[in-house]
Amino acid sequence: MAVTPVRVGLVGLGNSGWYYHAEQNLVPARAAGQLDLVAVCDADPARAATAADRFGARAHTDWRELVAGSAGDDGGVELVVVALPHHLHRDVVIGALRAGRHVHVEKPMATSVADADAMLSAARAAGRQLSVHQQRRWEPDFQQVLRLVHEGAVGPVRRVEVHRSHAGRYRTAGDGTPHTGSDIATWTEEADTGGGAGWLIGPHPVDQVLQLLGTPTAVTGTAHRPPGSAVEDHLRIHLAFGQRDGGSSARIDVHRRAEHPAPRFRVVGERGDITSEDGTSVVVRDADGAVVVVHDGLEPPGRLGAELYASLAASLRGGPPVAVTGEQGRDVVDVLERALRAAR
Ligand SMILES: NC(=O)c1ccc[n+]([C@@H]2O[C@H](COP(=O)([O-])OP(=O)(O)OC[C@H]3O[C@@H](n4cnc5c(N)ncnc54)[C@H](O)[C@@H]3O)[C@@H](O)[C@H]2O)c1
Repeated sequence: MAVTPVRVGLVGLGNSGWYYHAEQNLVPARAAGQLDLVAVCDADPARAATAADRFGARAHTDWRELVAGSAGDDGGVELVVVALPHHLHRDVVIGALRAGRHVHVEKPMATSVADADAMLSAARAAGRQLSVHQQRRWEPDFQQVLRLVHEGAVGPVRRVEVHRSHAGRYRTAGDGTPHTGSDIATWTEEADTGGGAGWLIGPHPVDQVLQLLGTPTAVTGTAHRPPGSAVEDHLRIHLAFGQRDGGSSARIDVHRRAEHPAPRFRVVGERGDITSEDGTSVVVRDADGAVVVVHDGLEPPGRLGAELYASLAASLRGGPPVAVTGEQGRDVVDVLERALRAAR
C-alpha cells in the first residue's frame, strides 16, 4: 500500500537547512516518496524566496506562519525541521509542538537541560514526536566501532578516545556549497547564542560515546578560550561510566584547529583495541598489538542523514520509533552542559 509522504516545513535555510537537510536529504526523500518539503522559512526574505523556488515549496519569513493552520491533509505541515542558530531552537521547537506539529531539531537540541526538558514536556503535552538530527551516528567507521564493541571484540571497554576538529572559523553558506560564504556566522562566536566548539562540534562525538558506553556517572571538562574570544576553541570532555568490571572512561576532544595525527576513534578493551585513524578503515589489534581484523575501504564520513530521515518518515507512518529521540538529545545536552560548566 502506498504511504503518503510526510509533509515537511523547514525553518532556517543556512548551511544546515539548505544543504544538509533540503539538498542532501529532503530532495532525495521526496523522490523516494518518503517526505515532501512543502514549506520553507528564513528570516532573510531573499533566501526564503530563492529556496522556495528551488525546492518547490511555499516561502515564509516567520516560523509562526509556517506552523499556522491545519496539519491535516490539506497541505499543512506535519513535521517541522528546525535548523536555526542554537539560541533560537527552544522557542521554535516548543511553538511548533504546541501548534500540533512533530519536530526534528538540529543538534544540539538545546544549550541547557532546562530548555531540553521544556521541549520534552511540550512534546508530551501535545502528543507529538520530538527527534534530534544526530546523523553522525551513521558514520561508517563509527558503525563498525559500535558493532565491534557491542560484539565484545576487544572484551570489556576500558577507555574510549574521540577527536573531532573543524579547522577555522565558522562561515555562513556560500553559493552552492555550505561554509564557503564570505561572512563569519557570528552567532557561533558568542556565548549567549550558543557558540563555541563545545556546542557546535561536541554533540556528535558525545552522542557516539553515549551509544558506545551508556549513561555516564561523572562528567567534567577543560577548555581553551583564546584571548579576546567569548567562547572556547577547544573543549576536552572526560566521562566516567560506573564501576562494572573496574569501570571505563571516555575522553572527547573537539577543537577548531586540526591536530594531526589524532585518531578519530580509539577504543581500548581488556583484550585489545580498535582504532579508526581517518575514517576509511577500522583496525582491531589483540592485547599484544598484533592486527587481527582490518575493515578497510570504508566510505569517508560524509554529510549523511538518509538513515535518520528514513527512520523519521517511517516512525511518523506507524513504523518503529525514531532512531534519535528527544530524550537521547537531552542526554547529549546534559553531558555538554556539565563539561562546559566544569571548564568555566
Ligand atoms: N548535523 C550537522 O552535521 C550540522 C552541520 C552544520 C550545522 N548544524 C546545526 O544546524 C543549526 C544551524 O546551523 P547553520 O550552520 O545552518 O547556521 P547558519 O548561520 O548557516 O544558518 C542559520 C539560518 O537561520 C536563519 N535565521 C536566523 N534567525 C531566524 C529566525 N528567527 N527565523 C527564521 N530564520 C532565521 C538565518 O538567516 C540563516 O539563514 C545549528 O544547530 C548547527 O549546530 C548541524
